[in-house]
Amino acid sequence: MYNKFVLKVKKICPAPGYILDIGCGVGHDLRYFQECGWKVYGIDNNAGKIEKAKTSCGVNGVQVGDILQLPFRNEFFNVVYCRNVLHYLKIEEIPVAINESLRVLKKNGYLFFMFFSTKDKARHGNTLFLSEQEVDGYFGNWTLIEKAEVSVEESHGGSGLHEHTFWQVIGKK
Ligand SMILES: C[S@@+](CC[C@H](N)C(=O)[O-])C[C@H]1O[C@@H](n2cnc3c(N)ncnc32)[C@H](O)[C@@H]1O
Repeated sequence: MYNKFVLKVKKICPAPGYILDIGCGVGHDLRYFQECGWKVYGIDNNAGKIEKAKTSCGVNGVQVGDILQLPFRNEFFNVVYCRNVLHYLKIEEIPVAINESLRVLKKNGYLFFMFFSTKDKARHGNTLFLSEQEVDGYFGNWTLIEKAEVSVEESHGGSGLHEHTFWQVIGKK
């Protein structure tokens, strides 16, 4: 089953067009977007995951890259999508990542970001958790379409089902 965040893209900004998935991992969401009719592009800084995205998920247009320096020209994409990646950055890198995302987005294009909230119950490690005040500060430069705090039950790493709380922020350039 697809995660609910991809369905928001379908609802708010349906295909066709050019979509970039930043931190695409093994490409599950890109495969969905490809099936929806998008021309898909993805980057991830993990070369093994990019290889899997090509071989297991059958998505082309993926390459190794860093959110802090996107290998694309200005104003190329209709949608920039970034799920569960921002919280792996250092706090001072967040504005750089957001500015890069805006740079490669066309005017009137849409940004979809999902990342951990400070309300997350399973907080761990060096991961970043952002408060509402921080979200308002970092995402203040564009037209906000939706800002929601959502709780999702997940199972990964063999630790059974546990609840995570995320911000889902959707904006328009
Ligand atoms: C939790 S996974 C999420 C994968 C996918 N977006 C999803 O929702 O299933 C985080 C991904 O972000 C990638 N990543 C972490 N830091 C990154 C960076 N600075 N630039 C690009 N990708 C990064 C990791 O390699 C990993 O594949």
